[in-house]
Amino acid sequence: MRHDHLLTAKQLSRADIEAVLDRASEFAADPAAFRERHPELLLALCFFEPSTRTKMSFETAAKRLGGDIVDMGSVESSSVKKGESLADTVRVIEGYADAIVLRHPKQGAAQLASEYVDVPVVNAGDGAGHHPSQTLLDLYTIREKAGLDDLSIGILGDLKYGRTVHSLAHALTKFDARQHFISPESLKLPRSVRYDLHEAGANVREHESLDDVLPNLDVLYVTRIQRERFPDEEEYRKVAGKYSIDAETLARARDDLSIMHPLPRVDEIAPELDDTEHATYFSQAHNGVPVRMALLDSLL
Ligand code: CP
Repeated sequence: MRHDHLLTAKQLSRADIEAVLDRASEFAADPAAFRERHPELLLALCFFEPSTRTKMSFETAAKRLGGDIVDMGSVESSSVKKGESLADTVRVIEGYADAIVLRHPKQGAAQLASEYVDVPVVNAGDGAGHHPSQTLLDLYTIREKAGLDDLSIGILGDLKYGRTVHSLAHALTKFDARQHFISPESLKLPRSVRYDLHEAGANVREHESLDDVLPNLDVLYVTRIQRERFPDEEEYRKVAGKYSIDAETLARARDDLSIMHPLPRVDEIAPELDDTEHATYFSQAHNGVPVRMALLDSLL
C-alpha cells in the first residue's frame, strides 16, 4: 500500500486491501515473531470521542510491533478544552510521534488534520463519515468466514449515520459482493454513498425487512442506531429497537451465516446468540490487532 494517510476506504484498491489482509494473517499466525519490527515507533492516539476497541487495539498493535504510544487523553484533560484548534493540536503532536490515529466527531476532521502534518494520519472515525481501519478488520473477518468474492452480505441498522457501513460499502465494491442494505426509511444510506456505489457499479439492493433476504445471506453485518448523531431525540425514539436479532429471527437463516457487528452493541443482538456458531463479533473485534499491526507496518 503506497499512501501517506488512511482517510477513507475509497482510496484503497483491491490490491491494497489484499496486501494488508495477507500481512495481517502473518502477524496473527505468529505475533511474537514481530516484537522487534518497529522498536522506534511512537504512535499518537488522539481520540476526541469515546472508544474501546479502536483505541486499545491500535495501542496493542503498536506495542506488539515493539513500539509505544503517546495518548492525548480525554478532551476534558487536554488543551482542546482551552479552545485549541484541531490544526494546532495535530501540528504539535506530529513533533512527538511517527503517526497519528485520530477520532473526531466532525466529518472530514481526519482529512483536515492530514493537510497540516507530514506524519501519516489514520482516520479512526470522523463523525458519520468513515472508519477505514474498521473496514480492514471487517474484510479480514469476512474473508476468513465466507470469502470476499461471490459474497452475499446484509448490512442492517443505521446506514445513515453508521460510518463503519459507509467505509465497508465502498470497500466491498472492489470485490464480487451482493450488498443488501436493510434499514428504516429514515436511516437509509446517505445520497453521497449511494452515488459512489452506483458509480462503482456495485451490486446493491435496499430493503426494509430482514426477512426478505435473510435466507440468502453469507454474512449479516448488524449496526447500532447511532443515538449520539441524531439531531432530535424524538427521531431516535421512532427507530430505537427496530431491529433486534435473536434465535427466533435466525430460524430462516443458513446454518453457516456469520453475524458481525463493529460493536459496541446495545440491544441489536440478543446475548443468547453469543455462544452460537453464528456469533462472529468478538473474534471480529480481536482481529483488530493483527489488522492494525499490518496497517501500521504498511504506512510506516
Ligand atoms: N468499532 C469501534 O469503532 O469501536 P470503538 O468505538 O469502541 O472504538
